[in-house]
Amino acid sequence: MHKKRRVKRKVIVVFVLLILIGLSVGIYCFFDTEKISFDFSFLNQSVKNTKEKIEEEEAKQKKEEEQKKKEEEEALLDNGYGKEIPGPTYIKGILIVNKTYSLPDGFATGNDPTALAALRELQSGANQAGYSIPLLSGFRSHQKQIELYNRYVARDGKDAADTYSARPGHSEHETGLTFDIGAVDDNYGETAPGKWLASHAHEYGFIIRYPKGKEHITKYQYEPWHVRYVGVEHATKIYENQLTLEEYLGIA
Ligand code: DAL
Ligand code: ZN
Repeated sequence: MHKKRRVKRKVIVVFVLLILIGLSVGIYCFFDTEKISFDFSFLNQSVKNTKEKIEEEEAKQKKEEEQKKKEEEEALLDNGYGKEIPGPTYIKGILIVNKTYSLPDGFATGNDPTALAALRELQSGANQAGYSIPLLSGFRSHQKQIELYNRYVARDGKDAADTYSARPGHSEHETGLTFDIGAVDDNYGETAPGKWLASHAHEYGFIIRYPKGKEHITKYQYEPWHVRYVGVEHATKIYENQLTLEEYLGIA
């Protein structure tokens, strides 16, 4: 009971004090308002800093996007050749050569024996199915690719040549893992041996490297005759998922 009364008294004292403070401030403001002014400038400054930071970040992002777009446009202007990544480069244990990833001169000196043996198996598989799939072109040296590419440029112009012939250092034929087989003919994929090749190549470890409808990824026209050896396991996954090598390796 005694405690309750003490608390009550304290509440009253605080209440009275608050009223007194309120009255004092009121009177002070009434007579000298200029002196009662809070400085909110620090808040303004902080809002300004945050705003500036956001604007800076947005400008940076915009600049980066513009730069990326420019690089992509430049890559397209150069027929798919952008920034070169000198090789040899292996991803998932697979040697990658395309318009970005290059090979040094002299990387290989001939057909890879494993790839060649697999090709012979493929050819005999085709024979058993009643087809003949001859080997037309395998390993090419850097020098040979220079001559070939220059010849195509002289004949068809650079833009056209870049759709079907790799620039020196960028041809899979320089790896020794690639073969042109059957017939170098855009319609080969529609022929019986071409169809057999497309559906059986993976069983021997090969992929059709430049498939139809994926030109925007491979940066080459459809080549139903150009096969690349990657081994049965990889080739089967690539075939079953209808991927390009670039997609399979995550660099598309
Ligand atoms: N025909 C392919 C792209 C090459 O020249 O390697
Ligand atoms: Zn080829």
